[in-house]
Amino acid sequence: MTDILKYKGKRCVVTGAASGMGAACVKTLMSLGAEVYAMDVQDIKENVTQSFKVDLLSQESIDSVVADLPDEIDCLFNCAGLPGEPRFTNLDTCIVNIVALRHLTEALIPRIRKGGAISSITSVAGMSYTKNQKTVDEFLETPDFAAAKKWCEDNPSLANGYMFSKQAIVGYTYREAGKLAKQGIRINCLSPAPTDTPMMDAFHETLPKELMDEHFQSPIGRNAVPEEMAEPLVLLNSEASRFISGINLFVDFGYTAQVFCGQRISLV
Ligand SMILES: NC(=O)c1ccc[n+]([C@@H]2O[C@H](COP(=O)([O-])OP(=O)(O)OC[C@H]3O[C@@H](n4cnc5c(N)ncnc54)[C@H](O)[C@@H]3O)[C@@H](O)[C@H]2O)c1
Repeated sequence: MTDILKYKGKRCVVTGAASGMGAACVKTLMSLGAEVYAMDVQDIKENVTQSFKVDLLSQESIDSVVADLPDEIDCLFNCAGLPGEPRFTNLDTCIVNIVALRHLTEALIPRIRKGGAISSITSVAGMSYTKNQKTVDEFLETPDFAAAKKWCEDNPSLANGYMFSKQAIVGYTYREAGKLAKQGIRINCLSPAPTDTPMMDAFHETLPKELMDEHFQSPIGRNAVPEEMAEPLVLLNSEASRFISGINLFVDFGYTAQVFCGQRISLV
């Protein structure tokens, strides 16, 4: 059978590799013959090429891992994330979910070989990006990690946690696609529907399960499992997607379609 994904020997960097979708992503990439450089603040249990402890809240921690990564890579998978309040502050949520994601991505772009790709996990919570585009753009105009963090500290009512951070991933993806195309590099993001990972318990602390299911669950009537997000993410960064860049792929078995055509009310 023709291998249309072509991951054999490809160097892939994956964040959030210890748990949930990131762990599923790492497992799939290893099975496809990729070299996997996995990072997380928690211990990584999967068998990978090299694992790194990183705290995405800290620029120094990110920079020190970047210094130890190979000089050339092919793909970056931004899977790490925080669920927001009440477990984590809005500031920390914005730092991990977008400030650090952008910093790591920009540190690695010069090492991504022509034909390489970046995929980030955002969320259906970011689907209202266009309604908040002006604010997201203002945030994304900040030049670096320190300035972006300061913008969040100075504008707590705008950088208000999970939803803002996920809108900003969509905005970042859209803004970079055209620039990166000139270097032959693709960038996309993926918006998962509710998925049964350790993060789900944290979501249920703000939105009880019954309400979460009513307002966000896919019309198929169940949550996804991590592999159902990891595999489309792997597809997005693969050779099979070589003409796909600048998209936000909804992986929700029809949830956003229902919202977009008015069959279902959106809470975001
Ligand atoms: N589970 C869902 O229903 C759902 C829905 C939409 C989007 N998402 C997004 O999917 C992505 C994956 O989440 P998941 O559901 O697999 O949850 P998860 O909690 O299982 O995985 C998140 C990973 O991010 C890592 N991480 C968190 N803070 C970090 C830090 N400071 N430094 C380094 N690593 C850190 C965690 O250790 C963990 O391994 C996240 O970006 C999340 O926002 C999840």
